[in-house]
Amino acid sequence: MSEKPSKLSGTKYRRILLKLSGEVLAGDDKTGINVATIKSLAEQILEIHRMGVEIALVIGGGNIFRGMKAASEGMDRATADYMGMMATIINGLALMDFLEQEGLVSRLQSAIEIKSIAESFIRRKAIRHLEKKRIVILSGGTGNPYFTTDTTAALRALELSVDIIFKATRVDGIYDDDPEKNKNAKRYQRVSFMEALQKQLKIMDSTAFSLCMDNEMPIQVFDIRKEGNLKMAVQGDAVGTLVSKSEGAIYYGS
Ligand code: GTP
Repeated sequence: MSEKPSKLSGTKYRRILLKLSGEVLAGDDKTGINVATIKSLAEQILEIHRMGVEIALVIGGGNIFRGMKAASEGMDRATADYMGMMATIINGLALMDFLEQEGLVSRLQSAIEIKSIAESFIRRKAIRHLEKKRIVILSGGTGNPYFTTDTTAALRALELSVDIIFKATRVDGIYDDDPEKNKNAKRYQRVSFMEALQKQLKIMDSTAFSLCMDNEMPIQVFDIRKEGNLKMAVQGDAVGTLVSKSEGAIYYGS
């Protein structure tokens, strides 16, 4: 089984992992699934699929249940995390449905065995789906409590030999300081893992960040709500912030 496809024209990347937080699916509703939002996401994914890029999706569950919040309010952490993982499976089913409405062949896999609704996560099967240009939705987190969706994204990105993680968020990139508190905070176009670590920039939780840094897996953080951003990221254009091993930093407007 070949692990990576050959390079394509028009796209910088051959295989990507798009990490979507649950909040992204909620759109302006804040909780639940916003149909217009998920439809627009599916359209954006269709656009990059047409460019030939192979797409793995990791989906969060915070729009339905926030494990960390419930734990902080006294719930058993492991139980709360399992509930969060179940929420990601619900989101995965919704995403698969909307992708298929766009004509995109998709496969839902889950790290938690739930065979009547999703395939189990099997790495080689996921790679095979990608090679066949199917979209693979990876739900159920890592299957273990105490891990975040970001860590799932980092782990699966490495397992599936993707070229980059796209962390789709509701912010337009990473700043060198909190832009809400410091008006002079500057937005990075590019920053190294080392600088991000030294400045304690909040990109991913520490487990996810270490996995990416140690294995030189680049991360691009951008606002998925702005249509066209996903395509720009796939083309390798400057959108949001690219975190990689390359030394030095570049700011927007400098
Ligand atoms: P190929 O083997 O490459 O042809 O992949 P395929 O996914 O088309 O074949 P397969 O026969 O494995 O799957 C057919 C359909 O059944 C797909 O929609 C799968 O997502 C689904 N499927 C496969 N295994 C499971 C499972 O364990 N549980 C559930 N719920 N669906 C499954």
